[in-house]
Amino acid sequence: MKIQVIQGPNLNMLGVREQNIYGPMKLEDIHSQMKAYAEQSKVEIDFFQSNLEGEIVDKIQECLGDSDGIIINPAAYTHTSIAIRDAIKAVALPTIETHISNVYAREEFRQKSLIAPVCAGQVTGFGPFSYHMAMVGMVQILQEIENMKQAQAAQQGQKPA
Ligand code: DQA
Repeated sequence: MKIQVIQGPNLNMLGVREQNIYGPMKLEDIHSQMKAYAEQSKVEIDFFQSNLEGEIVDKIQECLGDSDGIIINPAAYTHTSIAIRDAIKAVALPTIETHISNVYAREEFRQKSLIAPVCAGQVTGFGPFSYHMAMVGMVQILQEIENMKQAQAAQQGQKPA
């Protein structure tokens, strides 16, 4: 089982940008914590960050046949990108939208997500811990899918040829 983590624009600036909102933690430290949880949960994990909308769309498309689930912080594209929304819909993989800040407690333009309606769930407002919560949710979703597949295979195995 493999999880693809996708980080949108300016998240490479974590630890430097608006520390009063996003805190002092750097992106690579968040990723180290996610990696540790992935290892513990025996799932593969891969990380990608881009400031470009088209590159994020490309990465989502590449997930098809390569990954089982996506954790994405689309950053500012959350509020604007029909292209990212369509890509998530197209690959039809379980996806969790994740935000460090509570987007619903901020400016009005951040209170609308074009991405959330095509996701399995959304985590927002827990600081860097939002990513851990997304990991717990994603591992649970993937385990449920795996259990369902195994139950179906067992049922089919029982049917007479
Ligand atoms: C963010 C929230 C977005 O509104 C903003 O544009 C970001 C970060 C967050 O993680 O809180 O860049 O996605």
